[in-house]
Amino acid sequence: MSSASFPALRLRRSRRTAWSRAMVRENHVTPANLIWPLFVCDGQQQQEAISSLPGVSRWSVDLIVERAREAVAEGIPCLALFPYTQSERRSMMAEEALNADNLMCRATMAIKDALGDDIGLLTDVALDPYTSHGQDGIIDDSGYVLNDETVEQLVGQALNQARAGADIIAPSDMMDGRIGAIRDVLEDEGFSHVQIMSYAVKYASAFYGPFRDAVGSRGLLKGDKKSYQMDPANAEEALREVEQDLLEGADSVMVKPGLPYLDMVRAVKDAFAVPTYAYQVSGEYAMIEAAVAAGAGDRDALVLETLLAFRRAGASGVLTYHALHAARLLNQ
Ligand code: PBG
Repeated sequence: MSSASFPALRLRRSRRTAWSRAMVRENHVTPANLIWPLFVCDGQQQQEAISSLPGVSRWSVDLIVERAREAVAEGIPCLALFPYTQSERRSMMAEEALNADNLMCRATMAIKDALGDDIGLLTDVALDPYTSHGQDGIIDDSGYVLNDETVEQLVGQALNQARAGADIIAPSDMMDGRIGAIRDVLEDEGFSHVQIMSYAVKYASAFYGPFRDAVGSRGLLKGDKKSYQMDPANAEEALREVEQDLLEGADSVMVKPGLPYLDMVRAVKDAFAVPTYAYQVSGEYAMIEAAVAAGAGDRDALVLETLLAFRRAGASGVLTYHALHAARLLNQ
């Protein structure tokens, strides 16, 4: 790179005014870059607060439809759904994940009935909302999560969601071989149009705590998820995960958590040039809210700055609990 040197070169010249800053701005955030995760609960007219996620609630199916309408009004293109499953419906084999009348399917059908293709629905594939032990898969006597047995259940879960009307199947379980197995069943069963967004680069992170409260698995979970989610120390291994999932038919990939892993967003985008999403997870949301509550920062500015950082790192979009708030700010 060649350029003049000081004083001919004064980089501050282009920063002096708002119009000039706008002209040289390299990255932008729009509502189209946002995916809004929502938690669904049973009942009618139910809104349940989640104490570790201030400002985020679980909503019954009728109210989820209202949230979906708000998202459409603000130009958010996609929602991500997660269910809170009653403990009596949880089991060792997570059979509830295959129930065509489960909460996820009912929410999916209700939103699709009301809004059709006005909004996309991304549904999470993993067994943790349905297991009695809170792991994402089927466990053996020692508590180890079994890969191939779990993939079989995940395939059934994905098909169940596709039949209900899911647009994007998003496996977050980190089993080996699940993308190919799910792609095969979708092709065979007439769902060739249904996309797969793989949580390809998902780390065993301490930032997921509030989410586990939201889906009701925190109290059930013994131990950790380190035998399937990635070691936060590893970067090269992440590229192998992405390569594998793309070869098996993933349409897009995700890096998770978000801000502490922006290096991986950039690495994946540079290596594969595919749609790459980042999940600003529950613990990250809670950190921002805690900072705001402590008077350490301004919510609007913090939220928009973090979203821009994801875009600068190469993210096509961001899953964030601040999505509706951010979209409203961006539309002002
Ligand atoms: C589980 C799943 C998790 C999240 C999304 N899907 C938690 C986990 O792996 O324990 C975390 C999302 C968040 O923290 O916001 N399949």
